[in-house]
Amino acid sequence: MRIDIITVLPELLKSPFEASILKRAIEKGLVEVHMHNLRDYSDNNYNQVDDYQFGGGAGMVLMIEPIDKCISGLKKEREYDEVIYMTPDGETLNQKMANGLSLQKNLIILCGHYKGIDQRVRDSLITKEISIGDYVLSGGELGAAVLCDTIIRLIPGVLNNETSALTDTFQDNLLAPPVYTRPSEYKGLKVPDILLSGNFPKIEKWREEKAMERTEKLRPDLLE
Ligand code: ADE
Repeated sequence: MRIDIITVLPELLKSPFEASILKRAIEKGLVEVHMHNLRDYSDNNYNQVDDYQFGGGAGMVLMIEPIDKCISGLKKEREYDEVIYMTPDGETLNQKMANGLSLQKNLIILCGHYKGIDQRVRDSLITKEISIGDYVLSGGELGAAVLCDTIIRLIPGVLNNETSALTDTFQDNLLAPPVYTRPSEYKGLKVPDILLSGNFPKIEKWREEKAMERTEKLRPDLLE
C-alpha cells in the first residue's frame, strides 16, 4: 500500500511513523508513506496556500490551486483508490471503514486547516470525507495519523501475530475480553482460574462470554 499525505504541517506527522508498528511496517516495505508540504505547490513568493473567504467572515480557507496541483501531480504517477479529506463533518471513522481502506492500494489523505478548504476541492477532487470523532481539532494531521494507524496495522504481515488484529475490540462489533499476564496473583488480586486451566476450548468459550458481557454493559449500541 502507498499513502500520500498532503499537509501544511508535515512536522506534525513525522513521529507517528517513526516508532513501533508503523515504523516496522514501513521498514518491511508493507506500506510507503509520503508527505507533501502544500506550501511547495504555492504559486506565489510567500508560499501562501490560504486566503480570506469570499463573502467575508473570520478564518482563512485553503485555496484550490495548490491542492489541485499536488493531487493532479500524484494522479499522473498512479491511480488512487480514494482521495480522503480529514474533516469534523465527515463520516465518523470506525473499524469497518478501516478494514475496507486497509484493502486498498493507493490512498491520498488531505489534511484541512484554518477554517477549512475551498468547497470546490471537496466537490471535484475528494472521494471520501472522514472525521475521527465529534470534536474539532486544529487541523486534520492528528486525524490522519489516527486513520493511518488503524489502516496500516490491518495490512497482512504488519502485526507479528496475524490473528491478533482479528481479536481486537470492535472486530465482529464486540469489545475484546479482559486479558491478564504474570503474576497469577498480585496483592490478593487473582487471575480467573479458567485462564490457568489449560483447557483451550473452555477458555475460548469464556472469552466469548466475557466479550458479550462487556459489550452489553459498556457499548450496547454495538449490538443493535
Ligand atoms: N479536522 C478537524 N477536526 C477533525 C476531526 N474531528 N476529524 C478529522 N479531521 C479533523
